[in-house]
Amino acid sequence: MVVFKEQLKQRIVQILKEKAKQKGIDPEGVREENLVVENPPKSDLGDLAIPFFPFARSFRMPPAALSALVGESFGEGLPLGVERYNVVGPYLNIFLKRPFVTELLFQKVRQEGDRFGSSDILRSKKIMLEFSSPNTNKPLHLGHLRNDALGESVARILRFSGAVVRTVDLINDRGIHICKSMLAYKELGGGRTPEDEGMKSDHFVGKYYVLYNELAKRDPEAEDRARALLVKWEEGDPEVRSLWEKMNRWAVEGIKRTYERTGIHFDQFTFESEVYLKGKEEILKGLSQGIFYREADGSIWVNLEDIGLDRKVLLRSDGTSIYVTQDIGTAISRYNDWPFDTMIYVVASEQNYHFKVLFSILERLGYGWAKNLYHLSYGMVNLPEGKMKSREGTVVDADDLLDELAEMAREEIRGKEREEEVGNIEETAEKIALGALHYYLLQPSPSKDMVFNPRESLSFTGNTGPYIQYTGARICSMMRKLEGMPRLKERQGEPKHLETEEEWELVKLLFDFPSVVELSASTYNPSLVANYLYEISKSFSRYYHEHPILYAEDPQVAASRVELSRCVLQVLRNGMYLLNIPFLEVM
Ligand code: ARG
Repeated sequence: MVVFKEQLKQRIVQILKEKAKQKGIDPEGVREENLVVENPPKSDLGDLAIPFFPFARSFRMPPAALSALVGESFGEGLPLGVERYNVVGPYLNIFLKRPFVTELLFQKVRQEGDRFGSSDILRSKKIMLEFSSPNTNKPLHLGHLRNDALGESVARILRFSGAVVRTVDLINDRGIHICKSMLAYKELGGGRTPEDEGMKSDHFVGKYYVLYNELAKRDPEAEDRARALLVKWEEGDPEVRSLWEKMNRWAVEGIKRTYERTGIHFDQFTFESEVYLKGKEEILKGLSQGIFYREADGSIWVNLEDIGLDRKVLLRSDGTSIYVTQDIGTAISRYNDWPFDTMIYVVASEQNYHFKVLFSILERLGYGWAKNLYHLSYGMVNLPEGKMKSREGTVVDADDLLDELAEMAREEIRGKEREEEVGNIEETAEKIALGALHYYLLQPSPSKDMVFNPRESLSFTGNTGPYIQYTGARICSMMRKLEGMPRLKERQGEPKHLETEEEWELVKLLFDFPSVVELSASTYNPSLVANYLYEISKSFSRYYHEHPILYAEDPQVAASRVELSRCVLQVLRNGMYLLNIPFLEVM
């Protein structure tokens, strides 16, 4: 929160508390969190607006009377940065001292630079963030791209807000689906390697998963042979294990290359094969404590019907492992290894039920920290043509999609005849592709299903990543020109020379950045930052079209406009970093 907003809030709370005391009302009832500072819909209504509805009941006064009362109580000493106020019904509208606020912005951005927008609202909170968590039978697909975009961005936003974050990738490297790719390779692979076929290694593995599905259609016994492989794997059969190791290495290596390409980082990789047995002990413990019950066939269950969920099996009589049981073990060992304040699972909404069950079981087992587990659920991503399919092998492959986007971005650069300015076309196109992808995936709120439209995501105008990149590049180009204008370059900007409404709108918007980041950190929602960057870009473009900056007649005005543009540039940079959208100096 920005200083003068904070001080304004405190002053109003203080006034309300005093008034409460005078009226014999408990001042503790005046809660600071009920006091909201809004941005009025129209600027002639003021720069900030405070509604008094939340206090009307305890004061037994109409909100309009309260707003008037608070306004009058300011008396001579208006709060810091406040020029004047206006009482409009239940609202107290505040007009700020423009030069004062603008100077504060200039100072803050100059001082904080890359840290502008950061805060310590999560200071030293330990947050573990699991995301991506692919399976090693095939490469990453479009759904993973949304998962990865969310996970990486949330990690950056949380760190920017002071948290100590550990990102973990739980690689699902065991189970029947893995054995299916293994079986197809064993029977049809002829010992070939990814190098032999010039294929990226995870795609090579994925090819055998597709081949397995074709095989299973012709040969109904294929499934039995895959199961037999799983049994052998569990027994530790050396031959099966070595095939498994080889194929997993291929899969994981390839997947890691995609992470590298997309700027995704993990602090820790965990493999399900190393942790999947851990839950079983907990289940037996729970059984002896009467938290779970045993069926006649020997299987162990939990009954969650009292909280509106089902009965759920936790240990089968044949001892084969169960997804939720595995997650119980994983959660406990994670906590023991790194006692977190919060643990976030970024996993698709298909698994909402799974996480409800998981969290309730951990609570029943008496783990106090279970209440700090959070499922960051996100919706499905489809392509315009229809749903992504996986079993048939027509899944939208992440690498292929990235290649296609990069190719389209290259066309865009050529079509606009920007080859010469851009210089390195390959690199620029790749960055535009990533910007397009990440912005498009992060812009809607996480829980919503969405359609990914590659063509639309790459548009240089409208609500897209490239539009935001372009706004940044345009300011950079202006700054390069400034280098050749030494007299202007040396002049200091001064707030009093910024007199247009567009400038004031920009100043206010820029000042909102820290609160936007705070809100996105506390709600794990990068879309707030995305939409905010779009607002900034639109606002700047409008300004740029309507007013000359470098070539403003009065050099004082020009220098001040340059300074304001520099603030826009900094906020774009910082915001783009938080969304993992590459910044481009030229495009
Ligand atoms: N590998 C799983 C899948 O593809 C996702 C794992 C989610 N994480 C977890 N802790 N259960 O469906």
